[in-house]
Amino acid sequence: MKILVTGGAGYIGSHTLVELVKEGYEPIVVDNYCNSFPEAVKRVERIVGKKIKVYEADIRDHDALSRIFDKESGIDCVIHFAGLKAVGESCKDPLAYYDNNIVGTLVLLEAMKAHGVKRIIFSSSATVYGDPVYLPYDEDHPVGNTTNPYGTTKYFQERILRDVCAADKDFTAVLLRYFNPVGAHESGLIGEDPQGIPNNLTPFIGRVLTGKLKELSVFGDDYDTTDGTCERDYIHVVDLARGHVAAVKKAVQKGVCVYNLGTGKSSSVLDVVHAFERASGKKVPYKISPRRDGDLPAYYADAKKAKRELDWEAKYSLDEMCGSVYEFNLKNPDGYNKSNK
Ligand code: NAD
Ligand code: WQD
Repeated sequence: MKILVTGGAGYIGSHTLVELVKEGYEPIVVDNYCNSFPEAVKRVERIVGKKIKVYEADIRDHDALSRIFDKESGIDCVIHFAGLKAVGESCKDPLAYYDNNIVGTLVLLEAMKAHGVKRIIFSSSATVYGDPVYLPYDEDHPVGNTTNPYGTTKYFQERILRDVCAADKDFTAVLLRYFNPVGAHESGLIGEDPQGIPNNLTPFIGRVLTGKLKELSVFGDDYDTTDGTCERDYIHVVDLARGHVAAVKKAVQKGVCVYNLGTGKSSSVLDVVHAFERASGKKVPYKISPRRDGDLPAYYADAKKAKRELDWEAKYSLDEMCGSVYEFNLKNPDGYNKSNK
């Protein structure tokens, strides 16, 4: 089965390519490399021992997408990862986020419609839930009370997909709400390679442990949580990738399906620090700093629906997640070969 993977060179996309090929699917990548490197797909090819077809194109480019659908006749399903994802950047430049994420999704859906492709798996986020009304968040928790333009684009994209499904009873959209994806493939060949100083916790610690950054700032230790630091539901990216394969199998049912992809467990920032210390055998130098604007104290997933309906659940522990980040950083101290960009 041919699956078009937008953003397939990115962090979650590249790990999903591995799991798709392992399960016998034929992924076809579209990426403009605005936040990734062609090298990532080459490394996926090394892991799976197969060539993967890649088109360098922007999903907002209607003609380019049309040509790809024409050339790759028989695409059965789209997994839609392509998008911008940095919360802080989205507050500084909201129009870039609405343009890339919303316009990109509209152009993609138009091309799918024109080519009779009626199944999409969409990368949504727990960020659509906003301030928790209750925890854990289940899929019926209210959505839309988002706190930044990035989160709002995810909410709008979900709404657009619901409207498309309402208008076409043969259309299927699986909305996957990811919690905090972390970790790297066991080969150490692919992982998260943010440009510049990482905003997110685990790539930051990965670089502290390899001496690229001096120390971690823990943003706040006076929250009403077990140890005063924020709590999140960290999920191994390989578990997340497996979740996409489960969703592809499910995507024969028409209409909208929504699933949380999380572990159902919450871990504090200091839990993550200690997991890295166990995995690496090194101390993580850190200091307590002021709270970061916009951080919620704690949230985690109710992941029972995905287990019940997709027969999927997360397998990896926090120590395994942190160990794999450490290994990826050890093996790739400068990330992917930047000269390949
Ligand atoms: P990523 O930046 O590593 O991957 C996104 C990929 O999309 C990149 O390869 C980028 O070059 C490509 N891309 C972006 N805009 C494009 C465009 N207009 N045309 C073609 N390609 C384009 O991000 P990721 O962490 O792999 O995230 C994948 C998806 O999952 C995103 O939609 C993101 O919002 C969503 N998500 C991510 C997280 C997270 O914490 N990583 C959490 C929840 C949801
Ligand atoms: C985790 C915890 C920080 C960095 C983000 C997006 C969210 C989703 C996933 C896409 C927080 C603390 C962090 C540091 C720290 N993405 N921290 N020092 O903010 O939970 O979620 O990625 O949909 O929308 O907001 O992830 O990794 O940035 O932070 O103390 O240097 O680590 O305060 O509690 P976050 P994160």
